[in-house]
Amino acid sequence: MRIASRPTLFNSATALTLQGCERPQYNRPMPIRTRFAFVGAGQMTEALVAGLVTSGTVAPECLSAGDPSPIRRDHLRTRYNIATFEDNRAALAGADLVCFCVEPQILDDVLRDVLPALSPHQLILSVAAGYPIARLAGIIGPSYGIVRGMPNTPSALGAGVTALSFSPGLPTADQQAAIRLFEAIGEVCVVEERLMDTVTGLSGSGPAYVFTMIEALADGGVLMGLPRQTAQLLAAQTVAGAARMVLEQGEHPGVLKDRVASPGGTTIAGLRRLEEGRLRATLIAAVEAATHRSHELGRSEHSHS
Ligand SMILES: NC(=O)c1ccc[n+]([C@@H]2O[C@H](COP(=O)([O-])OP(=O)(O)OC[C@H]3O[C@@H](n4cnc5c(N)ncnc54)[C@H](OP(=O)(O)O)[C@@H]3O)[C@@H](O)[C@H]2O)c1
Repeated sequence: MRIASRPTLFNSATALTLQGCERPQYNRPMPIRTRFAFVGAGQMTEALVAGLVTSGTVAPECLSAGDPSPIRRDHLRTRYNIATFEDNRAALAGADLVCFCVEPQILDDVLRDVLPALSPHQLILSVAAGYPIARLAGIIGPSYGIVRGMPNTPSALGAGVTALSFSPGLPTADQQAAIRLFEAIGEVCVVEERLMDTVTGLSGSGPAYVFTMIEALADGGVLMGLPRQTAQLLAAQTVAGAARMVLEQGEHPGVLKDRVASPGGTTIAGLRRLEEGRLRATLIAAVEAATHRSHELGRSEHSHS
């Protein structure tokens, strides 16, 4: 099988801006997907809603969310001014695109529950880790267009990255609609579905790895005498700046690393300790472990864990 080493990349600079629920005007025919319903109003839904609303991509009145938790419903309603419902079926009524943002362990049941209220004109999107398109189609039927997405929480700031896979034969216009939606909140790449667990283990779970690294770097600064706030600023901005260099300069990270490691200097001394602590091997193993967990979660029958 071909490895998606060079996924199709789309630049967020092309993000579509929609005000209100008007029909967008594209250069080529596009589907009308302007009302978005979220099933589940947790962290991922909030990241997507925040990104879409604050970027002006979608007006709040075009968004709705269903969730049994009154706390989550109140939070999304008051903070983002979107409609929220206890009943998922009410949330997705009239939506053009329905995004399932619940834990994979409960998605089977949630899909069966909302099925009578779904209609094949709706584009179905799931961000549930590990949950295959075929399993989703097996529950809702073959007449739906399905998009499987793996975004991450920096989407809330428009700084996310989302991988997308499409159900076989999904019309190009529907693919473009999904791509444009996620372009509004970050970068988008399209991958073969078999690689989605790996995406989950890397960029889906990745913000947590980076938070842990930032915390640890700041701890090191505090250990060596810096005030906590200063140490955290230095750590976080260092990670953000280094990431920008990789993205914008297009150089291999190893080349950039070599440039700052002067002979006998401070950086090579620090790098040696990272090697002793097996930082790189540990990060590789973390992606591997999260990939396996994604695979387990999406295939198991109600394996609450
Ligand atoms: N968080 C991430 O960084 C991330 C990244 C990529 C993909 N994802 C995927 O996004 C999905 C949601 O993750 P999350 O982090 O947003 O989890 P979360 O914060 O726990 O949100 C899930 C929400 O769904 C609610 N819920 C439970 N049963 C429901 C039902 N029957 N109908 C509607 N809503 C229901 C939960 O309410 P209760 O809390 O009351 O149960 C909770 O508010 C998962 O499949 C995950 O794999 C997450």
